[in-house]
Amino acid sequence: MTGRVVVLGSLNVDEVWQVARLPRPGETVLALASHRYAGGKGGNQAVAAARAGARVRMVAAVGADEVGAAYRRRLEAWGIEAALTVVGVDAAGGGGVRTGRAVITVDSAGENAIVVDPGANGCLDESALDTLADLGPGDVLLCQLEIPLGIVAAAVRQAAARGARVVVNCAPFAVLPAEVVAAADPLVCNETEAAAFADLGLLPGSWLVTFGAAGCSWDGEQYVAPLVPAAEVVDTTGAGDAFCGALAAALARGATRAEAVAAAQAAGAEAVRRRGAQPDPEL
Ligand code: RIB
Repeated sequence: MTGRVVVLGSLNVDEVWQVARLPRPGETVLALASHRYAGGKGGNQAVAAARAGARVRMVAAVGADEVGAAYRRRLEAWGIEAALTVVGVDAAGGGGVRTGRAVITVDSAGENAIVVDPGANGCLDESALDTLADLGPGDVLLCQLEIPLGIVAAAVRQAAARGARVVVNCAPFAVLPAEVVAAADPLVCNETEAAAFADLGLLPGSWLVTFGAAGCSWDGEQYVAPLVPAAEVVDTTGAGDAFCGALAAALARGATRAEAVAAAQAAGAEAVRRRGAQPDPEL
């Protein structure tokens, strides 16, 4: 029977600025257009998994604000179970904590630069782990690293102990506890991140390294990526998330590695051909 995909991760509002070229330090450039899109690596991966046909639960935190409520509605519209913590005030009892935000500039070649203010994502705590209590064999826990690493580590421990498969996308890069790296099946990272893990002597149980347009390698097995002509690349934001979400969905339905990679690569190739990190990005 097909398992579920439980995504533990971030939800952001992406403020996207389309520019001819990315600004250099100290430089001001004028945007060609700007948009408010749904984003966050967790949300992007959850939507990608749902789009690929998986039963998905999103475990995340949002602020008590309009965009947090809009994001919940959006997840539910995708058929995703939204297990969201609503964070009211910050730990110091000060002002309200907002839903996470990202400022993204995307140039005419589709390359991007991203700055994230984690907001509520940074407040996700152990109570969120109650939502993992029903994970079991066949299910997939999919994590990225825009939430507190201690929560990721605890979730991975819990999911692995329950016999679920754990997929960890180490983006943005952070040094993970050795037990998390060892439990990941696979740890998904790019070349630079893989080199950093190797330098630290951290060896994943299973390692899927992506090389952008040059494809990927899973425990040494090479997979060529579908060719996307440069002229068709409009926005690379979220392509890695589409890859991870589709990969997790395929693994949850029992696909082979080759089938799962093919589905992931197809999702990544589709993602770079449209604007925004999700197929229907307006939030
Ligand atoms: O991977 C792309 C995502 O990174 C964006 O949606 C942004 O919110 C950041 O989380």
